[in-house]
Amino acid sequence: MKLPVVALGAVFASSLFLAGLVSAQSNGPVQALRGSEIDTTLPAPEIYQQREGREVRNYRQQPPTIPHSMEQYQIDLRTNQCLSCHDWSNAGDRGAPTLSMTHYLDREGNQLDTVAGTRWFCNQCHVPQADAPALVGNTFEPSNPR
Ligand code: HEC
Ligand code: HEC
Repeated sequence: MKLPVVALGAVFASSLFLAGLVSAQSNGPVQALRGSEIDTTLPAPEIYQQREGREVRNYRQQPPTIPHSMEQYQIDLRTNQCLSCHDWSNAGDRGAPTLSMTHYLDREGNQLDTVAGTRWFCNQCHVPQADAPALVGNTFEPSNPR
């Protein structure tokens, strides 16, 4: 009974593929993210200085923005230099805010002593703060405005 199922799957997949092709063609010319012609060279964007001092969050669950430079802090598979100040075991000595408990919960909800793998790459969620225009416009409003 395995083969017919696989064959059916293939028919379904190829019809999806065709449908995808048709819709891709009907979407008009390719649009560049910055709204310019695709072959125009634009000047490099201005570099915005990092703003010091902790910012108030826009909503309770927001990952706080980073109030210090982070260029020199390496994060890779083995090393995470952010932890040398922010891990619970160092934060007191370094005078840095400790990672909240959510950073020590694995995906089953078990509490760990070391930062969870899902929170390893800090800059996936935390970004350096700068007074720069939004890259993409949005109409976000917090449900509970401060
Ligand atoms: C040398 C120690 C040190 C290192 C390394 C470090 N930080 Fe910090 N961090 C601090 C201190 C101190 C503060 C508080 C700054 C203040 O109060 O102005 C802070 C603040 C923050 C905050 C703001 C927290 C809040 O509640 O507002 C975030 C987010 C943060 N750091 C993320 C990072 C990330 C991500 C890295 C690695 C790329 C990193 N930090 C590396 C010392 C450090
Ligand atoms: C998956 C997203 C995500 C990742 C990855 C992540 N964080 Fe966070 N972080 C958050 C959110 C959301 C908050 C605010 C709510 C909370 O505490 O859970 C936060 C809060 C913080 C705070 C403030 C804690 C407090 O109690 O005020 C610090 C400091 C921080 N993170 C540092 C880091 C560092 C350093 C890393 C890397 C080791 C990291 N975070 C990785 C999402 C993330």
